[in-house]
Amino acid sequence: AIQDRVADLMSQMTLEEKVAQMAQYVGLEHMKKAEEDLSPDDLHNNDALGFYPGLHSSDIAKMTEEGKIGSFLHVISAEEANHLQKLAQKSRLQIPLLIGIDAIHGNGLNYGATIYPTPIGLASTWEEQLSNRIGVETAKEMRATGSHWAFTPNIDIARDARWGRVGETFGEDPYLVGNMGVEMIKGFQGENFTGNEKVIACAKHLIGGGEPMNGTNASPLDISMRTIREVHLPPYRRAVQEANVFSIMTAHNEVNGIPCHNSKLLMTDIVREEYGFQGFYVSDWMDIERIHTLHHQAETMDDAFRTSVNNGMDMHMHGPKFTESIVEAVKKGIVPEERVNDACAKILEVKFRLGLFENPFVDEKKAEEIVFNQEHQATALEVARKSIVLLKNDGILPLAGGKYKKVFLTGPNANNETILGDWHWYQPEDRVVTVKEGLEAVSKQKGFKLDYYNSGEIIGQTSDKSIREAAVRASKSDLAIVVVGENSLRYDWKNKTCGENTDRAHIDLPGRQLELIKAIKKTGTPVVAVLVNGRPIGEEWLEDNMNGILEAWEPGSFGGQAITEILFGDVNPTAKLPITVPRTAGQIKLYYNHKPSHYFHKYKFTDKNPLYSFGFGLSYTEFKTSNVAIDKSTIKGDEPFTVSCDVQNIGKRDGDEIVQVYIRDNYSSVTRPIKELKAYKKVSLAAGEKKSISFELNTQDLAFFDQEMQWIVEKGDFTIMVGSSSRDKDLTKVKLEVSETKKLDLNS
Ligand code: IFM
Repeated sequence: AIQDRVADLMSQMTLEEKVAQMAQYVGLEHMKKAEEDLSPDDLHNNDALGFYPGLHSSDIAKMTEEGKIGSFLHVISAEEANHLQKLAQKSRLQIPLLIGIDAIHGNGLNYGATIYPTPIGLASTWEEQLSNRIGVETAKEMRATGSHWAFTPNIDIARDARWGRVGETFGEDPYLVGNMGVEMIKGFQGENFTGNEKVIACAKHLIGGGEPMNGTNASPLDISMRTIREVHLPPYRRAVQEANVFSIMTAHNEVNGIPCHNSKLLMTDIVREEYGFQGFYVSDWMDIERIHTLHHQAETMDDAFRTSVNNGMDMHMHGPKFTESIVEAVKKGIVPEERVNDACAKILEVKFRLGLFENPFVDEKKAEEIVFNQEHQATALEVARKSIVLLKNDGILPLAGGKYKKVFLTGPNANNETILGDWHWYQPEDRVVTVKEGLEAVSKQKGFKLDYYNSGEIIGQTSDKSIREAAVRASKSDLAIVVVGENSLRYDWKNKTCGENTDRAHIDLPGRQLELIKAIKKTGTPVVAVLVNGRPIGEEWLEDNMNGILEAWEPGSFGGQAITEILFGDVNPTAKLPITVPRTAGQIKLYYNHKPSHYFHKYKFTDKNPLYSFGFGLSYTEFKTSNVAIDKSTIKGDEPFTVSCDVQNIGKRDGDEIVQVYIRDNYSSVTRPIKELKAYKKVSLAAGEKKSISFELNTQDLAFFDQEMQWIVEKGDFTIMVGSSSRDKDLTKVKLEVSETKKLDLNS
């Protein structure tokens, strides 16, 4: 019936009206704010912000009334959404607007939203059900405030710690990223995104942006199709085939000479035709234009718009000239009208399914009941507790209540919104628990006095005087907690060190943070470092010199509370790293699933191993894995098999262990990674308890692309590795033999 409604409506639409459905503009409040906050130079000349010269919020309002816009992004309140929908209702066909927003970890561009830990923290939980729950809850907050489309999840494979967007990914492993992404999409979309609590999701960015050539966002990729297909594409295939993701955003970068926004191979041949993608493509901000202005692959802007649409693009994100250009191109036969009809039909289908034709408006009063409600707050806190990785502990943690009478707290991230990470706008203070507030809340109960000192921001503001002052105050305390890391706040764009379009050539602690910690350490007072950061920090000195280190990532609204609970042992840490932490930028690219020759030779002065390995994370108890076995010693190329083991809590506290299963194809016609994660389980164990667990694996887990680029499982020996991290010393190995070579059809 929805198809009939779409066909009926399209039969009444002019070409101009159909193309208008393919046009998206930024919300008026966002635009006005940019107009107020930024100088004309910043507004129009800063490519990263990319507001078009001569285009003003008033023009956008008028175009909406005239039915020239089908979609908006970044509408920041229910009131604004209703205002825009009212404008759209004045147009000839009264087609409602589809409103999209970067709800990356909660609907944070809206004021007062629940902000969950950033995706890298979420992935550190290794619990994809939490990803699903965040999708469900965020969808409710979005619909309550008038948005229908999350530009989420970011399923980029993050292979470069210099890249500022690592924090909004699920890390470096295709399997873990795929699991997290699939569940989040299911949470957002439910069954076909019908009803008024669901939104469409957007898998982004097709493809490879997480492996930028020099660490900078949008730099080119010259990469084999094997790596694209085996590492970067699998989460997309799963997003399409397992979760029916209804939109995909293409990547800023080029791949092997073709800008992704102009790639027929990616958009049409692989993802639509091979994988069966049913939804629509949206461009990223200004990236169709950049086919001409940056990549120089199209001679004119018109060529860029037109080839992009011909190659599969369905919606243009923000900016003028697109619709006029496509209308003219259809009239001249440069763009086939069927292409426009396809795009328009999909976008209208979404609007019908979402129920927008029945009611495009939201009840502004009801938003308050849903946004930041108790259930969502509880999830944000639960995920924060499960996302913080204990990297080092010389025994100081958990902090013994009563032992530390005076606790000194400092560091640039101890008392501000940096714990919220990227992709949120200013939030009400009473909805954010900073580390200082978390510690203050328990100081009486735990019997310590908190001495907080603001040592200055990361960039520029930490002076010699403040470092001296911090050291003096640390010397008068029993313990120092230093909260350092990065700043990903998008509204603080002059001070930010991380986040979108904020990449670094180094991965150490930026600014004078290390000097600050060294001065404190020198006093002899024990020091615990809490890292709040959106990308891995490679700072060996900390590992060598801190008494304890927590990797908190950017833990969201309740980050300060969760950090405090872990410091004092009210919560036993369970998280494990979803990404490798290199020692230094020079080791990049460094990921656990590398090829055998990656370290044939050593570095002259630097250890070849990472600072922290993928899958690593400590607990306040200890676990032991034993009796690793496979139910068969030999399988044919197409049989499932079961890996089992016992896992025991051999420490004194209850805790959760994440048991990981890796495989290696020992000898193969194409070289294979030394390890690939294929399964994992989180197991809760009381002190002393032992459980037997098992993992079902199948042929697909052993497959790779052969020299003809066919999925294949090859005859020969495989090593199956089971344990607590990707480090060799944490894994027990068993052998599996595959007796026959089989070709697989993985896309059917
Ligand atoms: O969705 C984002 C994308 O990930 C990066 N560029 C801007 C888009 C809209 O905000």
